[in-house]
Amino acid sequence: MAEKEIIVAITGASGAPYALRLIDCLESNGLKIHLIVSPMGGKLLTDECGINKIDAQSLIGRSSTNITIQNYQDLTSPLASGSYPIQGMVICPCSSNTLGGIAAGLGDNLITRAAHVTLKESRRLIVIYREMPVSAINLENMLKLQRAGAVICPASPGFYTKPNTIDDLVDFVVGRILDLLGIDHVLKTRWQQR
Ligand SMILES: Cc1cc2nc3c(=O)[nH]c(=O)nc-3n(C[C@H](O)[C@H](O)[C@H](O)COP(=O)(O)O)c2cc1C
Repeated sequence: MAEKEIIVAITGASGAPYALRLIDCLESNGLKIHLIVSPMGGKLLTDECGINKIDAQSLIGRSSTNITIQNYQDLTSPLASGSYPIQGMVICPCSSNTLGGIAAGLGDNLITRAAHVTLKESRRLIVIYREMPVSAINLENMLKLQRAGAVICPASPGFYTKPNTIDDLVDFVVGRILDLLGIDHVLKTRWQQR
């Protein structure tokens, strides 16, 4: 059986640490990752995580042949076509801008195009939305995507695990994404009655 391939997109919403941890976990699980970073996503990777270069070594601290960097502007990429076999796509974090683009049916960059392809092929699209507060436009866009088959998963960590560190909060969100992808993990996300 072919190895599992997944698209991870990073957009210009705050929350770049979620993306780094997600890529780390997916790579450790042996998935092949196609990474697309919007220009503002790249800026926030720098501002929030000190990442200046988009490659496996810089993102997860080790080299990997399982991470392919895709050009945000390249609409001739195989990912722009439904004929390329991909298991699903996670947009982490997802800005209101990209959310709106997908909801409007735009495909003017590789993130919105790949998201559109993911939906039309009835594959898993997980949107880690990050904005607060939200406007009626944002809410309508989220509803539109959910009705089209996407999973809207706001970057909203729970506190019932009694997190001590920022890493604990990041792990909570990433653990829930892995749950949605059906990937086993040991990140602390489970509610346990005391
Ligand atoms: C420091 C900073 C933080 C931002 N955080 C958010 C955010 O959390 N959510 C959001 O929707 N937009 C946020 N933005 C605005 C987006 O970056 C902006 O709308 C951009 O056009 C998004 O483009 P993209 O979707 O192509 O990445 C932020 C911008 C900056 C400079």
